[in-house]
Amino acid sequence: MDKNHHNIYLDYAASTPLDPKVLEVVNITMAQVYGNASSIHRFGLQAKAVLDTARTTVAESLNARPDEIYFTSGGTESNNLAMQGVASQFSKPGNIIISAIEHPSILQTARYLKSRGWQITLLPVNRMGQIDPEILQQSINSATRLVSIMHVNNEIGSINNIEACAKIAYEKNILFHTDAVQSFGKLPVDLRRVPASFLSLTGHKIYGPKGAGVLFIRRKTKLGKLFFGGSQENGRRSGTENIPAIAGLTKAVELCQINRDADKSHLEQLGSELRELMKLQLPEARLNGGENGVPNIQNYSIPGIDNMSLLMGLDLAGIAISNGSACSSGDVSPSHVLRALHLPDKELKSSFRISFGRFTTSEDIKHAVRSIARFIKKKQPGRQ
Ligand SMILES: Cc1ncc(COP(=O)(O)O)c(C=O)c1O
Repeated sequence: MDKNHHNIYLDYAASTPLDPKVLEVVNITMAQVYGNASSIHRFGLQAKAVLDTARTTVAESLNARPDEIYFTSGGTESNNLAMQGVASQFSKPGNIIISAIEHPSILQTARYLKSRGWQITLLPVNRMGQIDPEILQQSINSATRLVSIMHVNNEIGSINNIEACAKIAYEKNILFHTDAVQSFGKLPVDLRRVPASFLSLTGHKIYGPKGAGVLFIRRKTKLGKLFFGGSQENGRRSGTENIPAIAGLTKAVELCQINRDADKSHLEQLGSELRELMKLQLPEARLNGGENGVPNIQNYSIPGIDNMSLLMGLDLAGIAISNGSACSSGDVSPSHVLRALHLPDKELKSSFRISFGRFTTSEDIKHAVRSIARFIKKKQPGRQ
């Protein structure tokens, strides 16, 4: 995308641009690998080979095995498959524990399961937006069948200790799922250390294509399915595989590994620049969840500011930020994540999210903060 000052994209947590190297792979695969991976002729085998390589590469990146990797259409499907798939294995509804700040694809699935008789426990978070593993430990009861805790929150960037949470569930013989959609490529995710039964990923948050995701399902874990049909993905996810998107997702995973150190220092550098500039130019802004989260997702509240008009004002200036829950843009109801942080009501509508990534520059950040400060000064002329 055109990257001049009038076109600054700071909404990477909603979706990332494609890495050009991913685009190349998607294009070539789309044009050349058109066989059905289930066909037995050479065109089918060619597609199957792409799929096999993809499974191995993704598995290696997570320290998992290739037969534990299932390709889906994205994070939403992976989260649904894990939760509904577990629930359908039980003849009687039990208890599911999730955090209060999960993505809607977990929260709404929990709500649906509640309507089917399941009891849902919502774990609170602390001021930094993290769940306390001890509270998780105390919340588990004899009816608990599944625990689902996200790794990194998409609105405020807070990080959960999923290793500790997974171990607690594992010791009690309870299935554990983590939504790692926002953490993959930013934090190490090692499934030999984290005894999770399930883990969700999506391509479009890691510079890969939309409509491709992964559910890791640990060996020997029983799981029902969402779709009935052919025997693709070991019978667990019917439907002809989206080979170009899966190839793109795989390239994106590979690039996250290759660029790991460079991405990390780039994001840390920009993250601290953003925090410093905000402190200097907008000292009244509050960083929701504090400074312990991932550097690339920062959520601020500025008292007296209407976030929707800020968003639209900045958009006119060519700068794209978000009101926080970008996955449902147009949704203006106050964020459940900020509510869980116990933000006062008036601050809920004065919050906005800046999220960035591999292709963001220091200039982009400087320009964005300057524009936010200018916008606010215009709205509050008396302000220094
Ligand atoms: C934490 C989290 N989980 C799940 C999703 C859903 O993934 P997808 O858009 O691939 O369905 C998103 C964002 O879209 C997210 O931020």
